[in-house]
Amino acid sequence: MAWSTAHVPDQSGRTALVTGASGGIGLETARVLAARGAHVVLACRSVERARAAAARIGGSTEAVPLDLASLDSVRDAAAEVRGRHDRLDLLINNAGVMFPPDARTEDGFETHFGVNHLGHFALTGLLLDLMTRVPGSRVVTVASLAHRAGFGGFGAERARSATGRRSVAAYGRSKLANLMFARELQRRFAAAGAATLSLAAHPGLSATGLWHGDPPALLRPVAGAGLRLLAQPADRAALPSLRAATDPRAAGGAYLGPRNRFESRGAPGPARSSRASGDAAAQARLWDLSEELTGVRYAFTPERAEDPPAAAVCPVTGARG
Ligand SMILES: NC(=O)c1ccc[n+]([C@@H]2O[C@H](COP(=O)([O-])OP(=O)(O)OC[C@H]3O[C@@H](n4cnc5c(N)ncnc54)[C@H](OP(=O)(O)O)[C@@H]3O)[C@@H](O)[C@H]2O)c1
Repeated sequence: MAWSTAHVPDQSGRTALVTGASGGIGLETARVLAARGAHVVLACRSVERARAAAARIGGSTEAVPLDLASLDSVRDAAAEVRGRHDRLDLLINNAGVMFPPDARTEDGFETHFGVNHLGHFALTGLLLDLMTRVPGSRVVTVASLAHRAGFGGFGAERARSATGRRSVAAYGRSKLANLMFARELQRRFAAAGAATLSLAAHPGLSATGLWHGDPPALLRPVAGAGLRLLAQPADRAALPSLRAATDPRAAGGAYLGPRNRFESRGAPGPARSSRASGDAAAQARLWDLSEELTGVRYAFTPERAEDPPAAAVCPVTGARG
């Protein structure tokens, strides 16, 4: 049977934080987690929109202001969450922008890279120790089919470029960074013996607010007819994130997405990814660059004396061998 929200296990007693939960796929992700009993922290740019979303979702929720385009805001949000919670079971790095109005973030980073990747890199690092001892805890980072368009590599200069605002490659690079981050994070969790898993997901295509940016002329047909043909509603597009967050059989390092029509829609399962996204040396370099740019250094305290065995893990079943 195709995986659906009916498969989401009871989340009672668990706390989930979803970034960008005021609309689109984040709202649907938060809605299902709250309906299954989780306490959901909606971390959103606008607290008013977050509160309106919380009222629509019902269940146990709270709103925290978070602007991923500002490292000060990320630090404040993390401090607020830490002040209210001593554990976090799920962190869903969902928020994202595509072809945004501003070329750079408050800290001078190219906006796609700054919001989609660096903001989430910093947030995750600042919340890390709320998660690493919590059994079953997971970080899910939302990437995209567009990670395949992330040509050009990463570097300090490109991270501060002012020319990425309407660039498919810049959006693609930020989503490639999301996927590489998720994989490097899983490697570091495993090496530290942390209880937390890191997974990635992509929603396929969905006609959400993401498409209301200012795309380059070449992409307008995709944003119009292509979306009408291939897109799935936001509640379906949230399924890969929900499966990555809650399916007991989904293993650390897995990347999940819709299975049909070139992964644009359908039930969630293992997704394909580019060769570049699996380059372990490039993942480590991106990690160092992200620490340097954000000033957030991850404190992995070994949870047990020995490293876990380095066995290959099936992306969905979790079988080792
Ligand atoms: N829709 C698709 O076809 C598609 C395809 C591939 C991947 N994705 C990914 O799916 C994720 C969710 O996107 P979506 O489709 O649901 O788009 P959406 O409806 O535009 O939702 C994006 C969310 O991110 C929030 N956000 C934007 N900038 C932010 C910032 N600086 N700080 C904090 N939050 C911010 C938005 O908040 P505001 O309400 O304040 O704008 C909104 O809640 C993104 O990571 C996106 O890249 C989507």
